[in-house]
Amino acid sequence: MDSKNASFGTRAIHAGNIKDKQNHALTMPIYQTSTFYFDSCEQGAALCAGEEEGYVYSRTANPTRTVLEAKIANLEGGEAACTAASGMGAISATLWTIAGAGKHIIADGTLYGCTFSLLNHGFTRYGVEVTFVDTSNIEEVKANLKENTVAVYLETPANPNLKITDIKTIAKVAHEYNKDIKVVCDNTFASPYLQRPLELGADVVVHSATKYINGHGDVIAGLVIGKEDFITEVRNFGIKDMTGSVLSPMDSFLILRGLKTLEVRMKQHCSTAMEVAKFLDSCEEIEKVYYPGLEHHPGHEIAKEQMRDFGGMIAFEVKGGKAAGAKLVNSVDLLTIAVSLGDAETLLQHPASMTHATYNSEELAEAGIAEGLVRLSIGLEAPEDIIADLRQAIGRV
Ligand SMILES: Cc1ncc(COP(=O)(O)O)c(C=O)c1O
Repeated sequence: MDSKNASFGTRAIHAGNIKDKQNHALTMPIYQTSTFYFDSCEQGAALCAGEEEGYVYSRTANPTRTVLEAKIANLEGGEAACTAASGMGAISATLWTIAGAGKHIIADGTLYGCTFSLLNHGFTRYGVEVTFVDTSNIEEVKANLKENTVAVYLETPANPNLKITDIKTIAKVAHEYNKDIKVVCDNTFASPYLQRPLELGADVVVHSATKYINGHGDVIAGLVIGKEDFITEVRNFGIKDMTGSVLSPMDSFLILRGLKTLEVRMKQHCSTAMEVAKFLDSCEEIEKVYYPGLEHHPGHEIAKEQMRDFGGMIAFEVKGGKAAGAKLVNSVDLLTIAVSLGDAETLLQHPASMTHATYNSEELAEAGIAEGLVRLSIGLEAPEDIIADLRQAIGRV
């Protein structure tokens, strides 16, 4: 069942599956094996040379992972996908495949803290030039494109302040300048249920599958989706040789299980987040709410165009700044103070000291990340319970 016409929820369950002809298992088994035996020396040589189809060694391919890769490629509308042992593994394998010394990357300044560090402190060490811009301002992107630009990298909605970038316009401008520039979009906050960047003109999608894709807070994983040729390069160079960031069969199995409910989970995350965002917006103790579903969010109209719904992530600032924000975080009862997102549990955290501690004060200000910002990942609890806990925490500030 690989039809692109079946509904998203149906494809999340059936796409990419293979029939277990030997034992008729309904669920894809966990091929917990590091290597695969050959019938002969000749067959081993043919498999290693890629002249015969089959498995050799689980750092390059594993059957449980293959099913996950086929399924996620289908859901993102890409030709192919490869997995990684973490979101950071996926991002670094992708960028090592695209860039090298003397090349130039344009990146949005508002990124997950470790991605920012990878670009700002990592790639620059090895002779890659990185220019941070605000990709929601197309003129800034245009002004910084250069002959040696190989990638434009962005998140939308961005972590942690939910900034929205117009993927279609960025892709058009970058490709008009040079068709070989790879527009890479981190789709972690949206998931393919809400947004499919490849259909909007992006070349590559990366994910922290640790988040909504798996959805149960029990796996660290990453994904890269794009054209077949490029994904083969990421798998054979970025993952196999450069990072060795290989997803285990067990984690692949858990993500396949999580994906079966992605649509129902995302619908619930979105509807609860809208209720919570409206509640926060109505509280006079709250200075500012960042949620793309609110009409006053600067990216609301673009989000309406490129996303099916507005997602489960909210950020806000409490009146009284950083100290008041910390007091609120420390006052929750049902909610959990933790980094990560996209789980069944509602999580809240303080980006400036946690997920975005890799930014210094000037970099935070430049990226529009307030020192007192609180980030909320709305879980699957009843909306009234989440709101009641936030109401009592706000009351204690
Ligand atoms: C938007 C985004 N991209 C990438 C990552 C990195 O993913 P991982 O923690 O799976 O390495 C994260 C982690 O929080 C994230 O929020």
